[in-house]
Amino acid sequence: MAFKSRLHCIYLIVSAYLTITCSSLSIPAPDLPSTYESVSQLRRDAIVTGGEELRILPLGDSITRGEGSSDGNGYRLALYDWLQLENDLDYIGRLTTGTMVDNHHEGYGGFPIDAIEALVTSKYPEQPNLVLLMAGTNDVIQKHNLSTSSAALDKLVNKVVNAYPDAVVLVAEIPPLLNPKREARRLEYNSAIPGVIKKYVDDGRHIAVVDMGRVKPEYINATDGIHPIDEGYRLIADAWYGAILAARYKGWLGELTFATHNTLGGWISDSTWTLEIVTYGVMSLVVLFAVRKLVNKAIRKYGTRLSL
Ligand SMILES: *[C@@H]1O[C@H](CO)[C@@H](O)[C@H](O)[C@H]1NC(C)=O
Ligand SMILES: *[C@@H]1O[C@H](CO)[C@@H](O)[C@H](O)[C@H]1NC(C)=O
Repeated sequence: MAFKSRLHCIYLIVSAYLTITCSSLSIPAPDLPSTYESVSQLRRDAIVTGGEELRILPLGDSITRGEGSSDGNGYRLALYDWLQLENDLDYIGRLTTGTMVDNHHEGYGGFPIDAIEALVTSKYPEQPNLVLLMAGTNDVIQKHNLSTSSAALDKLVNKVVNAYPDAVVLVAEIPPLLNPKREARRLEYNSAIPGVIKKYVDDGRHIAVVDMGRVKPEYINATDGIHPIDEGYRLIADAWYGAILAARYKGWLGELTFATHNTLGGWISDSTWTLEIVTYGVMSLVVLFAVRKLVNKAIRKYGTRLSL
């Protein structure tokens, strides 16, 4: 009968659909973010689940504090907003600045690295599991001997790593300085960071340098030539976020699963969607069978007078 073959046709379409969706269940994890574009892409496409609570210590100088940002939060609010979609999180530190609710940090304005090092303690009650360290700008500006500053950075990292051996420690490059002489010294300082952390990396510590290359000079306040403007702070948050994703991808901060949302396969591999599609699939099969039963019954009753 004509409608019967139509039903067969629907069965074929439904089973083909289920076959296609099931065969696209496994998708490769996205590449680790290295550029601004790929981080934005990743944020758009990825669902990150399964991470543990992040207890974040923002550590450094006035840039960590958020000097010059219009709300006084610096990078901390944007980063908080992004991370809280995926994780419970808590900012740690004895200082509080900015309009955001959880506005804790350890960003000491005007302090070079040795002074920051002297203040860091092993007694933060919340026990950070993620340290965002950005320091060195004042060493550059205040004309410290940069070899000494690198040694101070080593001492600071050492102190943090010893106090919180399980914490992920992300060490940022410092952002551009608009005065050319300072800028030259900044590049010199930044280029020494990988050498400072190498021994910790070799030791298997969960530590990495964070590339701040996306914070271009146009994102620095032209008046003071030092502090980022709002867009610059957002880009710093972006860089931290990418590095945190990468750290979690490495398994440094609990279990992590990626699911991209930009493909059919990606949608399916997200467990919620898989569940829904399986449910809807089963439901539509049940409905199809019920309809077929009704139609058959009607045909038996009305015979050829029925036209669908
Ligand atoms: C900086 O310190 C290093 C090591 O202490 C020393 O060898 C160097 O001469 C110093 N540089 C300057 C410009 O003082
Ligand atoms: C740059 O800094 C000055 C003084 O610190 C401030 O008045 C101004 O609003 C800042 N500009 C921008 C774009 O943030």
